[in-house]
Amino acid sequence: MSSAILLVGGMGTRLQPLTLSTPKPMLNVAGVPFTEHQIVKAREAGITEIVLATSFKAELFEPYFGNGEKFGISIKYAVEKEPLGTGGAIRNAAAMLSGQGPVAIFNGDVLSAHDLAGQISFHQSNKADVTLYLTEVADARAFGAVEYESDFRVRAFNEKMENPPTNMINAGCYIFAREVIDSIPENEVISVERQTFPKLLEEQARVFAYVDRSYWLDIGTPAALLKATKDLLSGAMYSAATPALTGGCYISPTAKVDSSAEIEAGTVIGAEAIVEAGVRLQGAVVGKGARVGARSILIDTFIADGAVVPPAVIAESNFLGF
Ligand code: GTP
Repeated sequence: MSSAILLVGGMGTRLQPLTLSTPKPMLNVAGVPFTEHQIVKAREAGITEIVLATSFKAELFEPYFGNGEKFGISIKYAVEKEPLGTGGAIRNAAAMLSGQGPVAIFNGDVLSAHDLAGQISFHQSNKADVTLYLTEVADARAFGAVEYESDFRVRAFNEKMENPPTNMINAGCYIFAREVIDSIPENEVISVERQTFPKLLEEQARVFAYVDRSYWLDIGTPAALLKATKDLLSGAMYSAATPALTGGCYISPTAKVDSSAEIEAGTVIGAEAIVEAGVRLQGAVVGKGARVGARSILIDTFIADGAVVPPAVIAESNFLGF
């Protein structure tokens, strides 16, 4: 039994107003909720059970993912009444796992092509307590910058700072030995980044860096969210969860698109959406049941589920109906 926990309980403040009604991990990315890409990635790496650590809008996950049967993996839900932070969430969710082996932990907002199975075997061959997936970015200020030795043993974890000592960052996927999770205090608000990792390093625990420079994107900002969809639709990033495409677009079979509408690559049209005559869509994400009025031109724009865009609206890099 190979186990995972997916952290999906955050408020997603950087994506408001999109996240006022839909939690960030349930936002549509290339035709499916973002979390589906991560669940399918976990399954492909050999994970057989996953607990979704939920809090904000917890009730929106289960109706879509159910017990996981449809996705070929067992899915359970741990709900925090009050958010417990990333560390508290991991401790709380682990109680629902059947397996006792190492646990893969994913931040719910990272799209990555990194080799998860490789990270798990690296963790095992090092007999590590924790193995952090690291990637390199041009500007590490908004992330946790991680320093490590030539044998990949982590030396320092520097959470978000003005002058980071390295551009190697915590890319948001960890393997934890089960004993390390069990040592996190129960029912307390705890941050793995600010408390657990620094404490483990202080205690000289075996914390290792798994460096992988393949595709990585934090979908936590509006621009990044649209980039994720475009990259998945164009093939710049692969996910087995991306549905079948037509001309670089995903158009739900239940959407109604007027034959005079121009639908350009990078566009997603959700179930039961209506796109009227003369509309032009380029890199647009049209939510479920939304209607785009005739002759509107929408570029790099996100339309909320059920929203009505009046005729002849022109919008670029915008969010309508939230
Ligand atoms: P911002 O507010 O825009 O930064 O987004 P966020 O709320 O998602 O926070 P952040 O990016 O710091 O969180 C990293 C991951 O941990 C995300 O996938 C969150 O959903 C998740 N997360 C953060 N805090 C909690 C929590 O208290 N409980 C649970 N279950 N998950 C959390």
